[in-house]
Amino acid sequence: MKQISKSTHKVLNMLRSAGSPLSGQYIADELGISRTSIWKHINELRDLGFDISAAKNVGYKIESVPDTLNSWDIDPYLKTKSLGREYYYYGNISSTMDEASRKAIDGASHGTVVLAESQEAGRGRLRREWVSTKDNGLYFSLILRPSVSLAEVSKLTLVAGAAVATAIKAETNINLSLKWPNDILVGDKKLCGILTELNAESDGVNFVIVGIGINVNNSQKDLIDAATSVFEQSNKKSLRAKILAAVLNEFECLYEDFLNMGFSSIQPVWHAFSSMWGERVKISTANDEFEAIAYDLAEDGTFLVQCDDGTIKSIMTGDITRLRLQK
Ligand code: BTN
Repeated sequence: MKQISKSTHKVLNMLRSAGSPLSGQYIADELGISRTSIWKHINELRDLGFDISAAKNVGYKIESVPDTLNSWDIDPYLKTKSLGREYYYYGNISSTMDEASRKAIDGASHGTVVLAESQEAGRGRLRREWVSTKDNGLYFSLILRPSVSLAEVSKLTLVAGAAVATAIKAETNINLSLKWPNDILVGDKKLCGILTELNAESDGVNFVIVGIGINVNNSQKDLIDAATSVFEQSNKKSLRAKILAAVLNEFECLYEDFLNMGFSSIQPVWHAFSSMWGERVKISTANDEFEAIAYDLAEDGTFLVQCDDGTIKSIMTGDITRLRLQK
């Protein structure tokens, strides 16, 4: 994990909040250090990818920030109390799920984020592979320590989905939709997947790991055909730190609503982000496959479908796929 000194961090914060150029002398006076030190800190920031202009008699100004995911890249956008406040960043890792689990067992606090620039064995639900190419996606796991019953844990996937969809929509205005239980799609291509893993004993939940993979700046050539990215949909590169912080900010709000008011506070948000209602879908469960009409998201987080005989069936696990009707 890269580190920067406290003074470099302070210089960065001053330049970030100033917006307009600051003279070396002004920064030096404010921080009580020499102008030579300021020059060294500026160069350290440049080495980290910050484009900092220096005009004579005017001063230093940040022209652009790098698309990196160090804690100092995210901090300016983070408004949370606990999510992301303990933060572990890895260049390459097997899977953030396993590392987060190890950290949780070692006592990492609620809200800890474990993030990697690439994963060698990124995984999805049902042990499917999650392609995690270097430096252009968001691949992270969140450690949660909720005091809820085991039955409530599966709803956390839906809470996460509602939060990620709300945050990405607000940041990018992409027309996305939620697919029960854990996908965010654009059309029928996957933009984001969510994986919830539980560590529990008979008397309750120890911790929950929520893994989130978002294709942000990935090009189509780096993705499977069934996937898309924010870049492919918007035609522009996004600052991943800003998207990550927006997701954490939103997740903390919805998570607190869920704990305080129950799933009924999340259901309408989730419902509004799904575009399947009233459409014919295929339901695939471990031992059954059938067609029905997507009816509603129940207050207990199960997916309700209306069968051809009019009865309403509640799906607890499985895959729901939209069927294209022949015209
Ligand atoms: C799915 O679509 O089934 C869920 C995909 C979840 C992928 C994320 S990327 C970060 C975290 N680490 C993993 O190995 N998986 C999750």
